[in-house]
Amino acid sequence: MPVRVLHMSDIHFGGEDTPALAAATAFARAEPFDLLVLTGDLTQFGRHDEFAAVKAWLADLPGPMLATPGNHDTPWMGLAERVAAPFRRYARSVGPPDDSGFEGDELIARAINSARGWQIRLNWSKGHVSRWQANKAVRRFGTAAPNALRVLACHHPLVEAVGGPMTGRVRGGHFAAKQLVAAGVDVVLTGHLHAPFVQALPCGDGMTYAVGAGTLSLRERGARPGFNVIETTAGELSVTAMAWDGRGLDVERTWLMPLRRSVVKGS
Ligand SMILES: [Fe+2]
Repeated sequence: MPVRVLHMSDIHFGGEDTPALAAATAFARAEPFDLLVLTGDLTQFGRHDEFAAVKAWLADLPGPMLATPGNHDTPWMGLAERVAAPFRRYARSVGPPDDSGFEGDELIARAINSARGWQIRLNWSKGHVSRWQANKAVRRFGTAAPNALRVLACHHPLVEAVGGPMTGRVRGGHFAAKQLVAAGVDVVLTGHLHAPFVQALPCGDGMTYAVGAGTLSLRERGARPGFNVIETTAGELSVTAMAWDGRGLDVERTWLMPLRRSVVKGS
């Protein structure tokens, strides 16, 4: 059976693009999907009122949802809370920051929280995936049905996107990428860059695809606001970046890639 995943990211409630978000929300209500994946930066500054808006938005959406935090989802104005309990507000409004997952016969999805409240480096906005996190995620893919699409979600691209408008500089990113490729993960969904992209992770068999979604906020970085529609069709994976043009949604670009399981079957 075909699988359809909606992938939205970097809404930045508090600085959201209201008409673009309304169009994306209407799309989610009108179109069937198996899972909505949100790859972080749901808020602008991790404020209580921003998380209240996130909670209200989520309550009005259909279907199963998997979310993971971004670096903006910690309280930017409260250093003590940011250090002691960086994702407490996120947990209250969205859910557990570390253990999100979805499992079905056709689709298995896991999340890794690559954001940190603080780090031992100057730029706390960059990513970190510990070996413990990567190994735990890989173990959890061990329960996947043989033909299930394997999806990993985190905020920061594990490996830098070629030509991307900014970097993720993820500590542990290459280790995690190698582990996920070895585990047969099909797609790694991320945000952070505010621009859509698709590229194969540069390790293993080259059939684990890094997929970035654009933003639905006013914080544009050279790409129109939008989101991704990810579908499996006859042995292929398609990623369609939808974009808001000021009046409606249109297709920015579609990528088509072979799925590992179809190549293995056919060889
Ligand atoms: Fe962002």
